[in-house]
Amino acid sequence: MLKQIDLRGKKAFIAGIGDDQGYGWAIAKALAEAGCQILVGTWTPIMRIFTQSWEMGKFDESRLLSDGSMMQILKVYPLDAAFDKMEDVPQEIKENKRYIEANHYTISDVAHQVAKDYGHIDILIHALANGPEVKKPLLETSRAGYLAAVSASSYSMVSLVQHFGPIMRKGGAVISLTYLASEKAIPGYGGGMSSAKAALESDTRTLAWEAGRKWGIRINTISAGPLKSRAAKAIGFIEKMINYSKVNAPLSQDMEAEAVGYAALYLTSNLSASVTGVTLYVDNGLHVMGMSVDSPTLQD
Ligand SMILES: NC(=O)c1ccc[n+]([C@@H]2O[C@H](COP(=O)([O-])OP(=O)(O)OC[C@H]3O[C@@H](n4cnc5c(N)ncnc54)[C@H](O)[C@@H]3O)[C@@H](O)[C@H]2O)c1
Repeated sequence: MLKQIDLRGKKAFIAGIGDDQGYGWAIAKALAEAGCQILVGTWTPIMRIFTQSWEMGKFDESRLLSDGSMMQILKVYPLDAAFDKMEDVPQEIKENKRYIEANHYTISDVAHQVAKDYGHIDILIHALANGPEVKKPLLETSRAGYLAAVSASSYSMVSLVQHFGPIMRKGGAVISLTYLASEKAIPGYGGGMSSAKAALESDTRTLAWEAGRKWGIRINTISAGPLKSRAAKAIGFIEKMINYSKVNAPLSQDMEAEAVGYAALYLTSNLSASVTGVTLYVDNGLHVMGMSVDSPTLQD
C-alpha cells in the first residue's frame, strides 16, 4: 500500500531562508504542508530584515498552506555558514553592525543551540550558496574568491552534517541544492561557483556513505532549474537562463519553486527510505539536452 507523506512530529532545520522567493522557502512550505515543524537558519546580516518583514506580515500571503492555516516557524537562528566556531570569525566581521547584535551564529553554535532548544531534528536542508566573484569567469577568479565560494557553498554542507548529524534521529534526511554548472560549462556562472557545486555533489556521495553508517541518515542533493531568487538575481542573467530553459528543455514550462519543494518532500519522507547519495534533477529535464534547439545555426 502506498504510504502517505506524514511528517507530523518531525522537525526540520532549514539553512538559507532570507525571504519568500527562494528554494529554501518552497521546501519549508512543502514540509509544513506535511505537518513538519520548521526551524530556520538565516544569514546573520539579513536576520533582522527577515524577522522584521515576517512580523510586519510581508510574507503572510506566501505563508498560506492548502488547509487555510499559515506556515509557522518555531525559531529563526542567525547563521553564517562560512564559519564553524566563533574563534574563526574575523574581528572586523564580529564588529560589523549587521553582526554585532548576534552573539553565536557559527555552525557549531547553531547546532548546539538547536540541541538545547529541541533535542533532536529529523531533517536538515542546506539551501544556501555564496560566491563573491560569481560574475567573474573562472579564468579571472582570484584564489580568495574561489575558496570563499567553496567555503560558503560546499564546505558549509560538510560542516552542517558534521555538527547536526549527532542530533539527527536515525532515518533522518539531509538535502542540499545544486546546479547543472557542476558538470556542464555554463558561461556566466563563475567565481568558482561551478567548482563549488561539483564539490557539493561529490560530497553528497561520500557523506551518504559516512553519515549513513555513522548515524543512519540519508544525504541527497537536488539539481534545480533556474529560479528568480534573490541569490540568482545577483548573478545577473537569471531571466535569460529561465527563458533558455523554457525554449530548450524537454518540458517547456516555468520552473516553479514548488516543484523543488515537492521533490524535497519525497526525499525527506519514508517514500525515499532507501534513496541516498543521489543527485535528483528537478529542472524540467534541461540536463538531458546536448543541443540548444533555438540555436541560430539550426534555423533554415
Ligand atoms: N535560483 C536558482 O536558479 C538555483 C538553481 C539551482 C540551484 N540553486 C541553489 O539553491 C540554493 C538556494 O538558493 P536560491 O536560489 O533559492 O536563493 P536564496 O537567495 O533564496 O537563498 C540563498 C540563501 O543563502 C544565504 N546565504 C548566503 N551566504 C550565506 C552564509 N555564509 N551563511 C548562511 N546563509 C547564507 C542567503 O542569505 C540566502 O538566504 C543555493 O544553493 C543555490 O545555489 C539555485
